Amino acid sequence: MRRAGCGASGLSSADTASPRAPPRRKQTFKRRCAACVALAALGVAVIVMPRRTVDLKLDAAHLTARQWLGDAYWAARAAAAEAASVPRHKHYHFNGTAARHACEPQAPELVLHLKVPKAASTTVFDLIGTLAPKNKYRVNNRPQYLDAKHETRSARAYARYFLALKPRTVRSAHGVYLDFARLLGPGALRRTPPCYFGLVREPTKRLRSHYDYLHWGPRSPWARFWKGQDAGAPPFWDCVERRRQSGKREESRGGCLYWANAQLQYFCGVHRSCREGSEASLRRALAHARSAFAAVGVVEDLKGFLEVLERVLPGYFAGIAGTYARATIHARTTHHVETEVVPPDALDFLRTDVLKWEYALYAAVERDFRRQKRACKLP
Ligand SMILES: *[C@@H]1O[C@H](CO)[C@@H](O)[C@H](O)[C@H]1NC(C)=O
Repeated sequence: MRRAGCGASGLSSADTASPRAPPRRKQTFKRRCAACVALAALGVAVIVMPRRTVDLKLDAAHLTARQWLGDAYWAARAAAAEAASVPRHKHYHFNGTAARHACEPQAPELVLHLKVPKAASTTVFDLIGTLAPKNKYRVNNRPQYLDAKHETRSARAYARYFLALKPRTVRSAHGVYLDFARLLGPGALRRTPPCYFGLVREPTKRLRSHYDYLHWGPRSPWARFWKGQDAGAPPFWDCVERRRQSGKREESRGGCLYWANAQLQYFCGVHRSCREGSEASLRRALAHARSAFAAVGVVEDLKGFLEVLERVLPGYFAGIAGTYARATIHARTTHHVETEVVPPDALDFLRTDVLKWEYALYAAVERDFRRQKRACKLP
């Protein structure tokens, strides 16, 4: 009863000049009451917020306030997508090998875009959003923030969350590959297995793009507010050359080698061997790309990749190549000064040393992708 009376007190108590203002004692009481409710709400926020996500579906003890708030926003949008009615597909099926080797169309229940930063990721993210109302699927953009201290447990929670999404959902958000069968046991995949797709980009170009973007790129006001932008950082190649000369590899966030091998890590997923570039991480990354993915393309042939996507996932992505061709979102990529002099030793240092294994991944993916294009009878 008392609580119900407090709702409007914040407004009315400010209005002291009004002739109909309540007697002073009652007003003080109302003010105290409002303060109590605010404190109680804060208490709940402080207790619940760091532990659970806003929908209480995922453990959030490891999230920063920024991540928690961002997740709350995307969780609300995901809940709206879940509530919307979407026509059911008649027969769900997914066989990645058939898609990649024979270009056979697939109809999975859940499609996951492995959104590697600075590899046409926002372009594809936007296309997924644009096509959703037309092709009638749900979109889920909740980022996957794994708990670094309890990585496997955290990955398992996300895997369960994704598998519980309603059919005909396309997810696009940052987050490494999840091996659902390994994390949850093969029995967990009673439905058709989730279908991944993704892109890789020429490794040096991607690393360069990531560095430039963080320091000078067109980041969202949200990102600028929380993370700021250090525009005083040294130019990319100066930084790489210095690393080469000093032999120093350990990087702090924002350093030019910090995001090296990110694509390898994304495809490799949750495993000790995935933390750095090595033969083991390459083997794992390729095994994933060659089983759970309907297609892995290269950013350098984005148009070709979208055409492949249309053929192997027509129920989701029919018309995506045309939408891309018509859209004005091409200029997403961070542009660099064309006439700069690239120090050959620094370039070689990246190719043969820092990014060696990621180059191997890129080369293998490119080969596989050409074969898939031929299977799809694309030029
Ligand atoms: C998937 O497709 C391939 C090639 O078309 C086929 O050899 C394989 O048996 C299929 N796998 C399953 C589980 O149906």
